[in-house]
Amino acid sequence: MKTIIGNWKMNVGVRESVALARGVLYALRGKSVVPEVVICPSFIALSEVRKITAKSRIALGSQNSGFLETGALTGEISVRQLEELGVSHVILGHSERRQLLGETNEMIQKKLALAVKHQLIPILCVGETREEREQGKAKEVVIAQVKAMFAEKISFKKFPLFFAYEPIWAIGTGKAATPADAVEMHQVIRQTIKELVPSFSEKQVSILYGGSIDSKNAYAFLREQEVDGVLVGGASVKLSQMREIIDAASDALESTLSLT
Ligand code: PGA
Repeated sequence: MKTIIGNWKMNVGVRESVALARGVLYALRGKSVVPEVVICPSFIALSEVRKITAKSRIALGSQNSGFLETGALTGEISVRQLEELGVSHVILGHSERRQLLGETNEMIQKKLALAVKHQLIPILCVGETREEREQGKAKEVVIAQVKAMFAEKISFKKFPLFFAYEPIWAIGTGKAATPADAVEMHQVIRQTIKELVPSFSEKQVSILYGGSIDSKNAYAFLREQEVDGVLVGGASVKLSQMREIIDAASDALESTLSLT
């Protein structure tokens, strides 16, 4: 399967979110081979967007969740509240939260444990800075981020898990990594996870690429077997781009079907 996740960040309000969700729904209509699509509006738009995605092929995701299950955490949203809104996925550890809001590995680990407890599918973001890549430390940094997420034992059983490899230098810059860079890092992440949680089945863990994905470069990533999908930021709030990215995923899926 291929998965397209739209991370709408703080870019659109409620009305625009509803219109976008409708547009994505239409984009999937009539297609026989479709990717899995998850849209992640801001908290304020979740309820309204849910009215459109309910009983559709689109899944609803949140951009974050609080690290406590409930209680005193002003300004945060708990997994319980997200569950109530019909959210099925949650982005955790996005680099914007790590870098600009001081989110630590420990916080991300707690959020992961709570997400799994409440059956929200985590989308765990990892990635290195430009400096770290230039110093030849990219793999080391990403491996450390992955390991930190599994620092405490969590019972995953058969629960699915997404990783998003998002090099920080590629986010919002218009300069995506190359598909070859992504494939290389995805292999490293897959191997690290296998060592950390040997009980995971192959299908349980999906690894996506994120960072300046648009309608022009999406297919080059999606056609790679190692790339289970893409996490799209800026381009995901432009309906025409999103439509073409979905088409690219359908094409990639069709070409793998024709090979089997
Ligand atoms: P971008 O963002 O596609 O705008 O680079 C990706 C992300 O932050 O998830």
